[in-house]
Amino acid sequence: MIKPFTHWITLIIVYFIFPEKTGSTSQPEPERVTANVGENVILNCAFDYPEGIPVSYVIQWQKLGIDLPIYIWYDGYPPHTGTGYEGRASLSGQASLNLTKVNEEDQGWYECKVFFLNRPPTLPKNGSWVHLDVHAPPHFKVKPPDVVYVKVGEFLSLPCEAAGTPAPTLIWYKDNSPLEASSSIEILANELRISSLKQSDIGDYLCMARNREGSVTTTAKVIVAGSAVITVPPRNLTKLEGDKAEFTCEAKALPSNVTYQWFHNNVDISELSWLDTRTIIKRDGTLLINPTSAEDSGQYTCKVFNGIGSPETAFAYLTVEYPARVTYSPTIQYLPLGLSGIVRCFVQANPPFQFITWTKDRRPFEPNNLPGVVSLNNGSLLFQRVTNEHQGRYRCTPYNIHGTAGTSNVMEVLVREPPLFTLKPKEAYQQSVNSEVKMPCEGVGQPKPTISWRKADGSKLPKERAFIRGGNLTLKSIKKEDHGRYECVLENEIATLVTSSLLNVDSTTPHAPTNVSVNTSAFAATITWQPSYDGGYEQTYVIWYRMVDTGDTNWKTIRVYPEGSTTFTLYYLQPDTEYEFQVYSRNILGEGLPSLVVKAKTKVLDVTNSQGMPTDGYGSTYIPSVFKSTGPKPGPPRNVTVTRVAQGHAISWLSPANKTVPVAYYYIEYKIGSGSGAGAWKIWGPIAKETSYLVKTFKPGDVYTIRVFAHSILGAGQPSEEIRYEVPGGNFRHSKDKAIAAGVVGGILFFIAAIVLSVCTVKICNERKRRKAEKAYLMVTCPIMNVANGQSSQAGSPMPLKSYEESRVPSLVNSSISAILQKNFGNPSSSSEIVLQRFSTPTTATLSFNGLPYYFGLNSSKPKIIV
Ligand SMILES: *[C@@H]1O[C@H](CO)[C@@H](O)[C@H](O)[C@H]1NC(C)=O
Ligand SMILES: *[C@@H]1O[C@H](CO)[C@@H](O)[C@H](O)[C@H]1NC(C)=O
Ligand SMILES: *[C@@H]1O[C@H](CO)[C@@H](O)[C@H](O)[C@H]1NC(C)=O
Ligand SMILES: *[C@@H]1O[C@H](CO)[C@@H](O)[C@H](O)[C@H]1NC(C)=O
Ligand SMILES: *[C@@H]1O[C@H](CO)[C@@H](O)[C@H](O)[C@H]1NC(C)=O
Ligand SMILES: *[C@@H]1O[C@H](CO)[C@@H](O)[C@H](O)[C@H]1NC(C)=O
Ligand SMILES: *[C@@H]1O[C@H](CO)[C@@H](O)[C@H](O)[C@H]1NC(C)=O
Ligand SMILES: *[C@@H]1O[C@H](CO)[C@@H](O)[C@H](O)[C@H]1NC(C)=O
Ligand SMILES: *[C@@H]1O[C@H](CO)[C@@H](O)[C@H](O)[C@H]1NC(C)=O
Ligand SMILES: *[C@@H]1O[C@H](CO)[C@@H](O)[C@H](O)[C@H]1NC(C)=O
Repeated sequence: MIKPFTHWITLIIVYFIFPEKTGSTSQPEPERVTANVGENVILNCAFDYPEGIPVSYVIQWQKLGIDLPIYIWYDGYPPHTGTGYEGRASLSGQASLNLTKVNEEDQGWYECKVFFLNRPPTLPKNGSWVHLDVHAPPHFKVKPPDVVYVKVGEFLSLPCEAAGTPAPTLIWYKDNSPLEASSSIEILANELRISSLKQSDIGDYLCMARNREGSVTTTAKVIVAGSAVITVPPRNLTKLEGDKAEFTCEAKALPSNVTYQWFHNNVDISELSWLDTRTIIKRDGTLLINPTSAEDSGQYTCKVFNGIGSPETAFAYLTVEYPARVTYSPTIQYLPLGLSGIVRCFVQANPPFQFITWTKDRRPFEPNNLPGVVSLNNGSLLFQRVTNEHQGRYRCTPYNIHGTAGTSNVMEVLVREPPLFTLKPKEAYQQSVNSEVKMPCEGVGQPKPTISWRKADGSKLPKERAFIRGGNLTLKSIKKEDHGRYECVLENEIATLVTSSLLNVDSTTPHAPTNVSVNTSAFAATITWQPSYDGGYEQTYVIWYRMVDTGDTNWKTIRVYPEGSTTFTLYYLQPDTEYEFQVYSRNILGEGLPSLVVKAKTKVLDVTNSQGMPTDGYGSTYIPSVFKSTGPKPGPPRNVTVTRVAQGHAISWLSPANKTVPVAYYYIEYKIGSGSGAGAWKIWGPIAKETSYLVKTFKPGDVYTIRVFAHSILGAGQPSEEIRYEVPGGNFRHSKDKAIAAGVVGGILFFIAAIVLSVCTVKICNERKRRKAEKAYLMVTCPIMNVANGQSSQAGSPMPLKSYEESRVPSLVNSSISAILQKNFGNPSSSSEIVLQRFSTPTTATLSFNGLPYYFGLNSSKPKIIV
């Protein structure tokens, strides 16, 4: 047998001897054949012998792209088959190739070459090209998952990749309608992308791969993932002990991999060994308790969760009922002779027991028929006045609707002498702070009674200051809070006796007020508190307050009126600002401990919507001093002009063009000179409601720079344009008369102020009248802060034109005015000085007292002083 290998060496030699010469140019039209995957196909190749004489030849089939021939045939030798074609290629007819089980890779160009061995190499050899088309229906290489859980808003990608010949096209359908690309939907060759899922994107997505040979489809359901929701919650159950109990807990969820957890009175059942062993949680979440026991009663909570969203819970109650039973039978119970006493029956029952039968010395004992014996609600027997006849051997049997679980053991009831107080504390003790009190208490009895002390209000005795020796209570360095009722308890098995004594801690300052609460508006705060022990004297209050975040360490104080009131409103506060408040109480002996500090923030004021100026305790409006400009600001005032008028010079302007933010008042800023040589800005104002202002102090020949600011209630807006005004020089006689008239009116105002001041001074000197006067008229608040917008103008400064005319001077003249400066501003010594600083408007004036400015508000109807 010759090995095929040696033959193929020969053939390869032949191959090199007769190099192929088949140029594609000289070829006839190539043949195209088509086959379906798996079928057989014949690749045709025919030739003629040279000159019609048969000679030996070699057939060689090559595939374009594969270097080595895929099939070589030489007569008499076993054919060679290239890799991938083993067993599939054979010769058909003369030179055609019979290819079986065609697969997709077989597609391509094939060339058939024929070599005639005994032929001169010069002649062209025959050959032909055949193209094989392999048709394959599409099939999926990557499929999207059957179900996709999504959340609305998420990004979604559905992969889908198919192969086939011809290359299949992918078509997407959503709910059976073709899907088109859009801004949020991107259809790629192997993927569908939806950038931000909308509810309308939820549905069934079908991916279809299609070519001439056929089509395949796959579907992905896009479902909104849903957290587990309990559809059938557990229901209250009432079971007889020993029965089984079943709590449902059905839940719906997507995906539906719900885990169930059960809790008994909020403790996971798996942690309760006494219960866990009798429970099963079924696959559908149902909790089965079998058998039930009395202590299983309670709340059962089912918690469902599928990893999405938050778990949901539902609960129901289990009531395990059982016949009434006695839990404990003390072998001996004592009754105190001559006092009231109780014989106890320790009953447990669900539902509660209906009645209890008693036996005494084996004979039925019917308490209801006996005078002085009462059946208590809890089943015990009360003997109102114990006698020796009550002694005996008792048994009790409780019943409820389920009957009874049995009778108690015999309880020996013994009547004994009760303990006796041999020494009792006094009814009351009157002690001063820091003193010491001894409250004696002694008792005797058989068995020996114990003595203990407690406070009647349940609070603890001060450990480090309270000492009990024998039965005597000693309380050292008494404090105010020790005030109260004390009980001495004398106790043995037979009876518990209590006697009490009141400790009055006198000569003390009041206790700290409690329960301070604050209710705020934008400019005011109402403080309410609960008084504590007043120390034996009438108490009054002082409120301390300050802004929290200004680093202001100075508390301002204000005395509460009317005296004894436990609520008080503070005015003149800053809006949107956190304050601290503290209430001090005082009595004739002095100031007590302060309440806890309470913080509260004043409200934010909506400037564009506000009702205008804030009001004080009298309902009068006032112009607030704002420390911190907040909120929307009014625009700049317009068209500022200065004109000479009879009384002097009128500065007038137009309100801001944009009326959205209402103007509360204006300030005028002015400086002497203009440009870089000018002095510092000074101000006139506030000017409410007016858009003009009368100036009398302009010096003829001086140059002034003037600008106007509009303020909302919460602060200044932008300034108007600056204008330069050169005061015309010359003769002023014409207007001087008017100026004098104005000066007279000013003088009247000064005079009124002087009255005010003199009254003040008198009042300050007269402490007794002071109190009366306070009650009659006064409302005392705090010193005003430095006006944030700058310093006030000097005395004798001009006034708004119209207000000047409407001056309420007459009504003030006819009123009696009292002013008091409160002690809580410090201690006004006799040397305290009250100086009239200025009139800013006809209705207000500012005083300074001990260097602090105070604000005087004079209302036309009712005089008042705001200090
Ligand atoms: C090659 O074979 C074809 C038939 O398939 C024939 O018509 C043609 O004449 C042959 N050419 C040569 C050079 O033998
Ligand atoms: C091709 O080869 C297969 C398997 O050997 C055979 O069944 C089939 O008849 C052949 N086809 C032709 C046309 O010779
Ligand atoms: C279940 O029992 C609880 C407590 O006993 C009760 O508050 C609740 O109303 C009951 N629920 C129903 C549905 O009866
Ligand atoms: C349930 O399945 C979802 C998605 O398959 C998974 O995110 C979640 O963690 C699972 N939840 C639980 C409780 O196993
Ligand atoms: C029943 O009530 C009385 C009075 O309230 C009490 O002294 C007694 O201890 C109670 N009995 C039981 C068994 O709790
Ligand atoms: C308790 O006080 C009483 C009366 O002051 C006194 O007689 C008694 O000795 C005191 N007991 C003790 C243990 O100090
Ligand atoms: C005061 O506050 C305490 C504790 O916050 C509360 O228990 C009490 O009822 C309050 N008293 C009044 C009168 O509101
Ligand atoms: C706080 O003030 C508002 C409005 O003035 C009032 O309705 C409310 O009852 C007050 N609350 C308290 C606790 O005083
Ligand atoms: C305000 O000034 C502007 C420009 O300076 C002028 O057009 C306008 O008429 C003035 N308005 C009034 C009411 O004087
Ligand atoms: C007026 O002022 C308000 C608040 O500053 C602003 O929102 C509004 O746009 C202004 N209107 C005009 C017409 O400028």
